[in-house]
Amino acid sequence: MSSNTQDAGTAVAVIGVGRMGKHHARTYKQMPGADLKAVVDFDIERARAVADEYGCTAYGTVDEMLEAHPEVSAVTVAVPTQYHRATAEPLLKRKIACMIEKPLAATVADAKALVDCAAEHNAVLQVGHTERFNPALRAAEALRFNARFMQVERVSPMTFRSMDVGVVMDMMIHDLDIVLMLADSPIKTVDAAGVAVLGEHEDVANARIVFENGCVANITASRLALNTERRLRVFSESGYINLNYQTRDGIVVHTDGENREALAKVRAQLAKGVDLSDLKYLDMVKVEKLSFDLPAGEEDQLTAEQNNFLSAAKHGGTPAVDGHAGFAAVDAAQRVVRAIKEHTWEGMEGSALLLNSAD
Ligand SMILES: NC(=O)c1ccc[n+]([C@@H]2O[C@H](COP(=O)([O-])OP(=O)(O)OC[C@H]3O[C@@H](n4cnc5c(N)ncnc54)[C@H](O)[C@@H]3O)[C@@H](O)[C@H]2O)c1
Repeated sequence: MSSNTQDAGTAVAVIGVGRMGKHHARTYKQMPGADLKAVVDFDIERARAVADEYGCTAYGTVDEMLEAHPEVSAVTVAVPTQYHRATAEPLLKRKIACMIEKPLAATVADAKALVDCAAEHNAVLQVGHTERFNPALRAAEALRFNARFMQVERVSPMTFRSMDVGVVMDMMIHDLDIVLMLADSPIKTVDAAGVAVLGEHEDVANARIVFENGCVANITASRLALNTERRLRVFSESGYINLNYQTRDGIVVHTDGENREALAKVRAQLAKGVDLSDLKYLDMVKVEKLSFDLPAGEEDQLTAEQNNFLSAAKHGGTPAVDGHAGFAAVDAAQRVVRAIKEHTWEGMEGSALLLNSAD
């Protein structure tokens, strides 16, 4: 991922200023590279409140905003996911760069239509998978390990938000995007199980994804947990990474250098039948902190994401999380949801008992 710093104010707007869009407006307002012109929301009172706070103009529709501000060349689309396509397509057709909040779309067909539209009109399309800009992940990514096995947990207590989608499209999609990036290979098989407890969509899910190159990802997501945990473990021949998305730190154990020597010694002793039961494994392993020099001003993930977006919008480059990545995450999420529906438990008539099969 390249670090991109913006030099002059790109005229921007935010469409949909609910929970997430408000953060986009605040962050653009603070960025020297952005000139926040307007916010748009069907709920005009909400738009006015945000516009007043961040010193820009409020509009109830995108058309009104564009008529008043034809100079706007980049927007964040943070309306509910089901409206992403209808909102973003007309903007992409006008070559306005769009950062669309994650997930890219509610369906694979809509996600593909957005990718195709951006390509046809040569418009920049970025997807708001903000976790990609987590410094711990950036540090892990910079190590360039070949991921062979990944263990992922993203669990938290119920917030009663995003109840219109299941935990796979709401939370697991962050991790699907990341494991797809780290595995760097097409998906071969998906096996999954999940349960819907409070509504018609799954609240807890586990997926085992096998990639064409043999890499395996085991991902658990729950919005019914008693505490919050967001963790990624990567196993590779180059070493082991364990990172915490919440605390934005982690550790790495390299398999070369001191660790290689220590392991070789142990292997030789075990081969000779030496009793090593007194050996303290944790004293033997050299553990290092994951570290990454963040570009100045990119401590905040959303700021880093917007820097990346505005740089692509201004210079016409490809953002770190482009439409293809957003499409792949939606496609993978839909495969997981399908696998959950196909999963059966002995003594039950399939997971349809737990999940409403009508959706
Ligand atoms: N990156 C993340 O971690 C993250 C976190 C939360 C939500 N999201 C995503 O952000 C998007 C928005 O979610 P939210 O929780 O902020 O929703 P929200 O319901 O809080 O806000 C959506 C806003 O959009 C407005 N709106 C709806 N349709 C509109 C339209 N066609 N034109 C203009 N305004 C419209 C609504 O009035 C509302 O104010 C979703 O795609 C969601 O998945 C991403």
